Amino acid sequence: MQLHILTDPATTPLGLDVDPGFGECFTPGMILRDYEPGLGWQDARLVPRAPLSIDPAAVALHYGQSIFEGMKAYRDTRGELVLFRPEANAERMTLSAERMAMPPIPVAEFTELVKAFVAHQGACLSDDPSHALYLRPITFGTDGVLGVHPSKAYTFVLLGMIVSSYFKKGSKGLRLRVEDQYVRAVKGGTGAAKTAGNYAASLLAQRKAVEAGCDQVLWLDAQHREYIEELGGMNCFTVLDGTLVTPPLGDTILAGITRDTLLALARHLGIPTEERPLPLSEVLDGISSGRTTEVFATGTAAVISSVAELVWKGETFRLPDAQPIATMLKAKLTGIQKGTEPDTMHWLTHAQPTALV
Ligand code: COI
Repeated sequence: MQLHILTDPATTPLGLDVDPGFGECFTPGMILRDYEPGLGWQDARLVPRAPLSIDPAAVALHYGQSIFEGMKAYRDTRGELVLFRPEANAERMTLSAERMAMPPIPVAEFTELVKAFVAHQGACLSDDPSHALYLRPITFGTDGVLGVHPSKAYTFVLLGMIVSSYFKKGSKGLRLRVEDQYVRAVKGGTGAAKTAGNYAASLLAQRKAVEAGCDQVLWLDAQHREYIEELGGMNCFTVLDGTLVTPPLGDTILAGITRDTLLALARHLGIPTEERPLPLSEVLDGISSGRTTEVFATGTAAVISSVAELVWKGETFRLPDAQPIATMLKAKLTGIQKGTEPDTMHWLTHAQPTALV
């Protein structure tokens, strides 16, 4: 694989005049790579970010054959650009591709493309410690044929944007509406894949949550409507009797890289952890009795966002304001990412491209 650089490197930090928030402050470049039937993945191009030309019959538009990832690069205390566990995103993108009958990009090639992109566009990231360079790789089926079958041709796009906090309310705790009508994922379905349809399926419930004064939906399992699963774009943790508990992975929960990282960090710090089915009733009863001391959402975009309130069938359950385990884990995680804490688990990768220059 070659990466053809067809635009100048970025030179200007972005997001300094107005808080960049999440989702709008794009870097000027993007990577494109096409998969051609019978030929496989072609060379990649780094080009100016611009609208794509796409067949209106494209499989992705009609049947949702589309997957993505979310990952971040940081500027460490020495000013160097580092990526956090990029191979984990590459591996998860491979699993998503396989689930959606798409050809994966080999992990090493994906990682090299990301490193090269960050090296080229990294000047957009200032040294403001609250900012990160968020990377959004996507792959989608482009065949303009309306039969329902896997596309034969695909496009991979890698976008970058400067982000600060995912939630506009900053560090104020989230209010979650526990969804009692719709479900996000079923056993045997696509819930563990990072595919567009999972997010499309969540939008109506998300709108209802916002109308009810909440920030996010907390999804329950589809079979029993009893067990906590995830927030849709984030995994969910609670602290019950001092133990950090999160639902186990399976085919209805996205295997969050932040989730995995926090479990490893907690074990390293001697915090008891459990991955087990987590009944909503146990969490709510625990809030009333004082056993449930923390609930928080985790993800690349959300980092660790504490939950202040759970709303279940109109009743509000309020959590304690202080969430010491979430606070400690967040300090450790962001410290490793920014280089103020030692990277003992070797999670950081420098952004310099190697094989591609
Ligand atoms: C992420 O955390 O990066 C995600 O992809 C979740 C979301 C913003 C869709």
